[in-house]
Amino acid sequence: MSFPDFGHTCVVGLQWGDEGKGKIVDVLVPYYHVVVRYGGGANAGHTVVVSGEKFALHQLPSGILHSERLSVIANGAVVDPAVLLGEIQSLRQRGLRIGENLRISDRAHVVFPYHRREDQLSERAAGPVEKIGTTGRGIGPCYADKASRHLGIRIADILDPARLRERLSATVSYKNALFRTVYEQREQFDVEAILSEYTAFADQLRPFVCDTALLLREQMDAGKRVLFEGAQGSLLDVDHGTYPFVTSSNTGPGGVSPGAGVPPTSLRTIVGVVKAYTTRVGAGPFPTELKNSIGDTIRERGGEYGTTTGRPRRCGWFDAVAASNAALTGGPTHLAVMHLDTLSGMDELPVCVGYRRGGSIVNRLPADTYHLDGVEPVYERLPGWSESLNDCRRLADLPANTRGYVDFIARRLGAPVRILSVGPGREQTILVEDSAG
Ligand code: IMP
Repeated sequence: MSFPDFGHTCVVGLQWGDEGKGKIVDVLVPYYHVVVRYGGGANAGHTVVVSGEKFALHQLPSGILHSERLSVIANGAVVDPAVLLGEIQSLRQRGLRIGENLRISDRAHVVFPYHRREDQLSERAAGPVEKIGTTGRGIGPCYADKASRHLGIRIADILDPARLRERLSATVSYKNALFRTVYEQREQFDVEAILSEYTAFADQLRPFVCDTALLLREQMDAGKRVLFEGAQGSLLDVDHGTYPFVTSSNTGPGGVSPGAGVPPTSLRTIVGVVKAYTTRVGAGPFPTELKNSIGDTIRERGGEYGTTTGRPRRCGWFDAVAASNAALTGGPTHLAVMHLDTLSGMDELPVCVGYRRGGSIVNRLPADTYHLDGVEPVYERLPGWSESLNDCRRLADLPANTRGYVDFIARRLGAPVRILSVGPGREQTILVEDSAG
């Protein structure tokens, strides 16, 4: 099977986000016709480097950098119009064409300023132990309003000013009461101000809006290949991640069907993306975290600072227990291993294969996430490599120890590695054909 035979494909992270999905999507895009974001919102930060030029995308699918492809923001994503329109404008200023090639679902929920405020206030109120360390982009409150049904507002609603006024009146008075009574805030949101701001946004978004589930069905029926671009990582999945230190959507491949309105049987290929080490932003347990100079070295070499918030990422060794949990629920058919170059020069590479607590060792993430705080990682130590990998272009170019390390990850996660990344550039990518891999 070669890449063009992948069929409809989903690219998901198998860690706590920032695995390098943006780059993988960018590398795979030439083999697909349509690229879809099916979950998350402006909390995502996908960095793609094209010909030395860096693009950081939050709302738009990475496919937007290939203007001949169709990019879709589907119903499962939440849309912050200010961020989205800002991103469109800035890409246009850099010479990219954005028009017919972008489609936004009429069913996607919309992020409002009161969502951002609620996100920030609830985090502040949570205190140091319960704080999630969100991106503050209003994602959680927007998804919560979607599930509440009384409070959610969708793209279709903002296109109709009368409907928007009706929906906003109810929601804003509820939010103002919440801010006043629970959070003791004096400042109140004004329906008319939001209405006029969002009506203007709606006018700019209108040409892009359609029923994207129908569009995807038509595209699939016409033989077009679709690439679904996951946001965040599977360990941040609201059901299968390290709850409550997660985001508010189903980030794994299971989110594709409800998030894009395609049948669950649509996916032929699931590419699970992992970094050769582990990172995490925000709060929550991280058993293999390195709070020492090795962690600092990985952060500096790997450029491990948040694309969305600029926060330094917490860095640690590869956690095969956590990643294989994500593989268990997500079922990747192939793996991509990123940032191998960042680990050059390390004498040995410990990989976590179990968590020790008291006298017992477990190899599954516990449902009570707080239990992870006290565990001691059990490491298997693999030999490192000293060579720079930046110029490797084929599997055979890699040092034997790098190949051994990659094989170890593949065995632990139970899927073959088909893509390896040895630097930030598109060209610093090794695609492994079946015969070699
Ligand atoms: P929220 O999605 O802003 O509610 O944040 C919830 C958790 O998910 C926090 O720990 C965030 O740091 C994390 N998170 C959200 N989006 C991303 C992402 O794109 N990459 C990595 N972590 C993320």
